[in-house]
Order: sequence, then structure tokens, then C-alpha cells
Amino acid sequence: MPAPNEPGEPPAAVKIKIVDSGPLQVKGPIELLDHDGRPYPTNGRRTLFLCRCGHSATRPFCDGSHARVGFESTERAAEQPDA
Ligand code: FES
Repeated sequence: MPAPNEPGEPPAAVKIKIVDSGPLQVKGPIELLDHDGRPYPTNGRRTLFLCRCGHSATRPFCDGSHARVGFESTERAAEQPDA
């Protein structure tokens, strides 16, 4: 389990990476909730892969079905002038 933040300390950043033609990779202290606010069991994992192709049998988690269905998506963020 991740350590809680100290009072006044900024929350740890969660990083979300869009995997080419695949899932969203989410890293950080994660609490994953359904629409009604009920938590999914994540067993303290700090990295999750969330389906974005819509074909996983274990949604919201990726089960690798994106490859079977030929999901293609390769978005890129626009370059930032000061990056
Ligand atoms: S992104 Fe992997 S199963 Fe949908």
C-alpha cells in the first residue's frame, strides 16, 4: 500500500501513458472506482493497464484482446514550445 501523503504535501503524481494500439498504462497510487464509486480490487498494484479498445472480457482491465481485434490508435501529444 502506498504511504499516505503528509499534511500539506502535494499528492503523488499519477502517470498515464497511452500505449500505441493498446491500453492505458496507469502508474502511481491508484484507486479505481466504477461509475457508482465502488472500488475495483487492485491488490495494491501501482501499475494498471486499462482497456481502451472496448474488446476486453475483463473490462476495465486490458486482457490483450486489442491485438486479436487489430485495434489501431497512435495518438501523439502536440509538441509544447517549452518542453
Ligand atoms: S486495450 Fe487491451 S483489450 Fe482493450
